[in-house]
Amino acid sequence: AAPEPATLVVFGVTGDLARRKLLPAIFGLFQGGLLSSAVELLGVGRQEMSSGEFRQFVAEALRESSETDEIEEGSLASFLETLAYRSGDLAGEQVYADIREFCEGRGTSNALFYLSLPPSLFITVSDGLAGQGLHEQTDGWRRLVIEKPFGRDLESARELQARLTRHWQESQIYRIDHYLGKETVQNLLAIRFGNAIFEPLWNRNLIDHVQITAAEDLGLEGRAGYYEEAGVVRDMLQNHLLQLLALTAMEPPAPGSPDALRDEKAKVFQAIGRITPEKADEVAVRGQYAAGTLYGERLSGYQDEEGVAEGSRTATYIAVRLEVDNWRWQGVPFFLRTGKRLPKKVTEIAVVFKRPPLSIFPNVERNVLAFRIQPDEGVSLKLSSKTPGQEMELREVVMDFRYDAFGAPLESPYSRLLLDALTGDASLFPREEEVMESWRIVQGLLDAWEGQGQTERYTSGTWGPDAADELIGEDRRWRRL
Ligand code: BG6
Repeated sequence: AAPEPATLVVFGVTGDLARRKLLPAIFGLFQGGLLSSAVELLGVGRQEMSSGEFRQFVAEALRESSETDEIEEGSLASFLETLAYRSGDLAGEQVYADIREFCEGRGTSNALFYLSLPPSLFITVSDGLAGQGLHEQTDGWRRLVIEKPFGRDLESARELQARLTRHWQESQIYRIDHYLGKETVQNLLAIRFGNAIFEPLWNRNLIDHVQITAAEDLGLEGRAGYYEEAGVVRDMLQNHLLQLLALTAMEPPAPGSPDALRDEKAKVFQAIGRITPEKADEVAVRGQYAAGTLYGERLSGYQDEEGVAEGSRTATYIAVRLEVDNWRWQGVPFFLRTGKRLPKKVTEIAVVFKRPPLSIFPNVERNVLAFRIQPDEGVSLKLSSKTPGQEMELREVVMDFRYDAFGAPLESPYSRLLLDALTGDASLFPREEEVMESWRIVQGLLDAWEGQGQTERYTSGTWGPDAADELIGEDRRWRRL
């Protein structure tokens, strides 16, 4: 459905995320005819700027962004015309009064407030909005979009939830996890539930284990202030990776119910036991990148990044083994790994099947169904096949579907999620239970690791600490990606 008229208020509009992702996504929707001018953008930032200056800022951000494929000058001009800007102190009242006045001046009271802000400001802003009655839905809808991380551990997440729900209803809160907006992540659902052949295999009888990898070649990219506080568990594991696990492991959701997907994901999380601090080093391996060479370039280590504390233990890599204790998955380990400064950028979910119960041929490998989330998006199935010739010799072959076969560009996750939030479809936004459960699962890692023990160093441009190979076990191998 096309979004109804609304005001889209973006807080932190001059920040990094807004510049690189949000503004291009909003413009992409506008250019694609998906946002009429009835959806008007109001940027809010700290800097004082006239509307003219703000338009210029947006135009530059769009031209610089790699997310905007092609800018059609006519659309850009009409997009810029619809923009407005307000600045002010988010801890004061005036800025919220200005926002209310702006909203009242429009023909609609529908409003989406996007908090592209540091988490320390979530409560300040949601309270500030409520102080002006901007949470009330008397003659239109009002929604709050919140960036991750939602809290910094289980306790603070609960507190944040309690504070938000003093004024806002859970149904008004949209927590963004941009991985859920990726087309290829949704394709996992399409493949699993749009084909009858996979579901009978999708369980402990035939699956040996599951590997989920989110490797990044980038390092800190100047985000030390945030990352030193967050570390890999909060930055990637608690949200993106656990969401991928839930989509892989969940039961088929009931059709037609907007909450069914979220219910099923929550049940998966409930079936994963918490990692106790005593077990942390048994089920997980942490690492931090040291200097190394990547793409022929010499790169410095995490310790030498600007803003990183001397002797920092912050982990930039994690490999962890989780189990989903339910009938479907009993005894099937899920291995998750993610890290910065690994040899390449690649995100993949690999479902690794058991070997045939009795092999009449030597060297029979396990079948692997791999969902390549990014880049080279696609799905592949690894099989053993006879090689040509007299001998009965088997070799692994790969059946490969590539997403680019559709010949259409992939939509940006932010465009998709913004549009969903504007049309009131919350199914791709993690709900309260999911967030709390995922903090519960990883809390033991935070407790065991923060300020304690050693974080092993791994050379930039390698696949992380060797201990990750021991974690996956003798008879299994991490995928070579
Ligand atoms: C973000 C993390 O949520 O996800 C970043 O904060 C990380 O540290 C990024 O680089 C990865 O997202 P993507 O879409 O590039 O895989």
